Amino acid sequence: MQAESFHSILAQPESRFPLELGRRNPDIGKLFRASLTTQWNPATIIDWDALDSEAFSAEQRQALRVRWSRRAWGEYGAIAESPALQIRFCHDRLDADTRLYFSIRSQEESRHAEISYRLAQKFGGYIEAPAQAYSGSVSSHGIRRLALDAEVPVECTLASLVCSAEQIILENFMHVAKLTTQPDIHRVYQLILRDEARHCAFGWYFMAARVPLLTAAQKNRVRDAVATMIERVELNGYQLAWLAPDSEAARTQIESDRVLWQAGLGASVEELEKPVFIASLRRVRERMAAEWGIRLPKFFHAKTGEI
Ligand SMILES: [Fe+2]
Ligand SMILES: [Fe+2]
Repeated sequence: MQAESFHSILAQPESRFPLELGRRNPDIGKLFRASLTTQWNPATIIDWDALDSEAFSAEQRQALRVRWSRRAWGEYGAIAESPALQIRFCHDRLDADTRLYFSIRSQEESRHAEISYRLAQKFGGYIEAPAQAYSGSVSSHGIRRLALDAEVPVECTLASLVCSAEQIILENFMHVAKLTTQPDIHRVYQLILRDEARHCAFGWYFMAARVPLLTAAQKNRVRDAVATMIERVELNGYQLAWLAPDSEAARTQIESDRVLWQAGLGASVEELEKPVFIASLRRVRERMAAEWGIRLPKFFHAKTGEI
């Protein structure tokens, strides 16, 4: 996006009143309450002292360190973006359930970042930045800017960030959790999954309420935003290293995930992840067509063929 076309909502005067705080989206209200009653503390939910990193080989420790550092970068992305969406929801004066829910969604993402950081620390030390050649695949997807751009309907951002990207990682995590036999790592996946299932449910509830209000042109923009997210972020290896452009850093990630998969330490490999990814993408396409009347284009990647 060109800088001159950016119309930030922050440049517009704030209009807060009348402040309507009643229930308008009961499904999202239920998610908010579920979040309030399922809090957990990364510092205490795992018995960190009992988790003996010396029980793992040096190769496994290094692989775990890389894996959970990468997870922490991804979770931090949500921390950096979620508050911008909350500002947007308040600016657009969306229903109170949506505004309240996103405050706790940000907090849940911070838990995920902290527990990922703690795991990386446990296994040899958190790595603060990705290798340069690989940073394009794992850095921001520009959500913060989109969220604050008055010209971009907020539905575009929610559909692409939550109903596509977050939905795909949720289903990948469900797959990885099933392969994980180390109890503490399995527990971490379960905890993150429980939160992420609510985040995804939020996206679909939100869109169910908003899609009927969109014009045909706005629905086309939602379609294009989702397609861009899938093509430029997902199919570029944001979540799955084997989809990333070939580089030494990507190969290192792929090899270290294989080491973890072999030992049940919380990772998977291309041959197992590929059918899960393709099925997720197909379900996203079918659901958007059935529930929103939005038809995504076909996607192509050399590793998957046409999806
Ligand atoms: Fe998360
Ligand atoms: Fe999330």
